[in-house]
Amino acid sequence: MIDSRSERPLPTHLGIIMDGNGRWAERRGLPRTAGHERGAEVVHAVVRACRERGIPFVTLYAFSHLNWGRPRREVEALMDLLPRFLDDSVEELHELGVRLRVAGEVDDLPPRLQGPIATACARTAGGEAMTLTLALSYGARRDVVQAMRNIAVAVRAGTLLPEQIDEELLRGELQTAGLPDLDLVIRTAGEMRLSDFLMLEAAHAELYFTDAFWPDFDDTELDRALGAYARRVRRFGGVTPMVDAAERRSRSRIG
Ligand code: FPP
Repeated sequence: MIDSRSERPLPTHLGIIMDGNGRWAERRGLPRTAGHERGAEVVHAVVRACRERGIPFVTLYAFSHLNWGRPRREVEALMDLLPRFLDDSVEELHELGVRLRVAGEVDDLPPRLQGPIATACARTAGGEAMTLTLALSYGARRDVVQAMRNIAVAVRAGTLLPEQIDEELLRGELQTAGLPDLDLVIRTAGEMRLSDFLMLEAAHAELYFTDAFWPDFDDTELDRALGAYARRVRRFGGVTPMVDAAERRSRSRIG
């Protein structure tokens, strides 16, 4: 992808691990839930900014399956935020041509969320400018395990031969089926790990870490991350184009 305004490479698929809501709130003497509320507002703004910049796929880590272990009140506050977020944003997403989808164990979410999620996904299903995926109750290892079970069932039923199992088939069984590989993963709040976020999809992704807490993440932060991405040289196991060209020149001199 090329940014039509700056002519620099843009990620086709951007993933964001939104971290630091709690610390942002604690530093202000506020309850952690205030950080999540501010974080949800930032989600709106960042989705708009990504859409304006022409990034076609954005996936946000909104709730890890391990987040169920947080204090009950905090989990409830996060579960209350989601339908509010959907309610506030679904029409705007629709107008912006943003299609919403979810990845994760959606059945684990409270029943009161199931309807709003299904409605928002259906309302935005025709969006062609950008796909926004919310990872909810998501864990990459679990997703791979479930995919392997599905494949094993097909092998046992005799509809699939073990030799037919390849990367494409596995990718098609993941909850992110149909999404391209991640090009860039941003993580906020100074943490430098993937925390079980789209591990297979991030196999060749560039990683970008910022100290900014998620509630402070803004257009400037986004552009800084996109600028860093544009300067990275992606080799996918090959050699850098410059090295390659220099080597070819020297080879032609030798030959
Ligand atoms: C990490 O901050 C963030 C989360 C666990 C949840 C992310 C949720 C939001 C950004 C708001 C809701 C999102 C939507 C889509 C409605 P943390 O609490 O782990 O922060 P800390 O590491 O400072 O404690």
